[in-house]
Amino acid sequence: MSDVVFPEGFVWGSATAAYQIEGAAKEDGRGPSIWDTYSHTPGRTLNGDTGDVAADHYHRWADDLDQLSALGLAAYRFSIAWPRVQPGGSGALNQAGVDFYSRLVDRLLDLGIRPVATLYHWDLPQVLEDAGGWPARDTAARFADYATKIVGALGDRVHTWTTFNEPWCSAYLGYASGVHAPGRTEPASALAAVHHLNLAHGLAGRVIRDLAPAAQLSVTLNLHVIRPASDSAADADAARRIDALANRAFLGPMLDGAYPADLLADTAAVTDWSFVRDGDEHTAAVPLDVLGVNYYSTTLVRAWDGVSPKSDSDGHGRSAHSAWVGSESVEFLPQPGPYTAMGWNIEPAGLTELLLRLHREYPELPLMITENGAAFDDVVSPDGAIHDDRRIDYLRRHIAATHEAMAAGADVRGYFVWSLLDNFEWAYGYDRRFGIIRVDYDTQQRTWKDSAHWYRRLTTTNRLP
Ligand code: FCB
Repeated sequence: MSDVVFPEGFVWGSATAAYQIEGAAKEDGRGPSIWDTYSHTPGRTLNGDTGDVAADHYHRWADDLDQLSALGLAAYRFSIAWPRVQPGGSGALNQAGVDFYSRLVDRLLDLGIRPVATLYHWDLPQVLEDAGGWPARDTAARFADYATKIVGALGDRVHTWTTFNEPWCSAYLGYASGVHAPGRTEPASALAAVHHLNLAHGLAGRVIRDLAPAAQLSVTLNLHVIRPASDSAADADAARRIDALANRAFLGPMLDGAYPADLLADTAAVTDWSFVRDGDEHTAAVPLDVLGVNYYSTTLVRAWDGVSPKSDSDGHGRSAHSAWVGSESVEFLPQPGPYTAMGWNIEPAGLTELLLRLHREYPELPLMITENGAAFDDVVSPDGAIHDDRRIDYLRRHIAATHEAMAAGADVRGYFVWSLLDNFEWAYGYDRRFGIIRVDYDTQQRTWKDSAHWYRRLTTTNRLP
């Protein structure tokens, strides 16, 4: 990889999410979200950490945007907190919340940075969870209403609108394994949530098309790269089953306008899918301009023999309840290292494989890597520097893997490093640091890690350092 050069116009960016960085949980009319409730429930997050203050981005946003500019970035992916702009989950918008994002977008445009806004990065207004959450169909209608109002307010000042970030996590971690908010462990509800997220994507996507015709429309999925442990038919079937739940449960309705038949059959004992109404799958399949891909590691499965102790190394946190609804017959195996501080295996080839699969299956659809990055236990040197060589190595190898997929034909338009700043890493709180910029949570001081300096060399030359 001595000379990896990206095409002119390839978009370098960085990503964050509202609850992970903003703080100001009770300011200017923001209402509670499911993540406020969850993080404030004892035992739910590591060290009892919450997003109350986080990286205090709500107050430091202007300086943080200057960092983007100093990093030479062409785009910034952020999310809008639904409970900040529509605290009640319905009705009129909270103007102070809208103003925050409006200023953010205007400042990005002044800096020549594309705003890439995600409408939902997991922070459902708590009132909507109280009314049933994503397993309830009405939540999709509420989401479309929220989209109508906020897209009406920000419109095509936003370059790219993304409906959802990783609906897989919202549905299965939120409602099946319970390791994410709202922490329910109801397998049938998780599948209903899958459907209502798909439906909400389609409803909101159509709103975006109407109200911001010049903007790009996208969704971000955390597609899993699933490998069978052997070439036996049983292991191949385990991989097929997990691919259906993890990937095709979203790709199917969103891109092909139908749920895959094997998914419905595999989960028939859990639900009859009667929550899918005529026309829903068609609604979900709103044409996209670009598909967002988040990638971190791979998944290794085999058919469980039903007798030996079962491993559950699926990389998505420990719970007595599986995220993999209806898949008791599948075992998730530990994988060879090296690992990040999340315990996720480092496997750049998986990214090439994923991009090429998408290119093969959806050749017309441009791709954007909307998240990729790594948590490591950073050490601050006596001179104040953070020599995060392992993060640089992770990024370099994954960006080279992206280039490899492009050389083989994949239409990848850009890459967003996760994350701009250290932040609230959900159930792992502030213990896991993903930033290329360090945040000292006592002083809120920002310090560029070596990886930030390295990334700047890439973004300003298009050449992999
Ligand atoms: C993804 C999330 C993002 C961040 C990274 C590490 O699943 O979208 O918010 O937590 O993982």
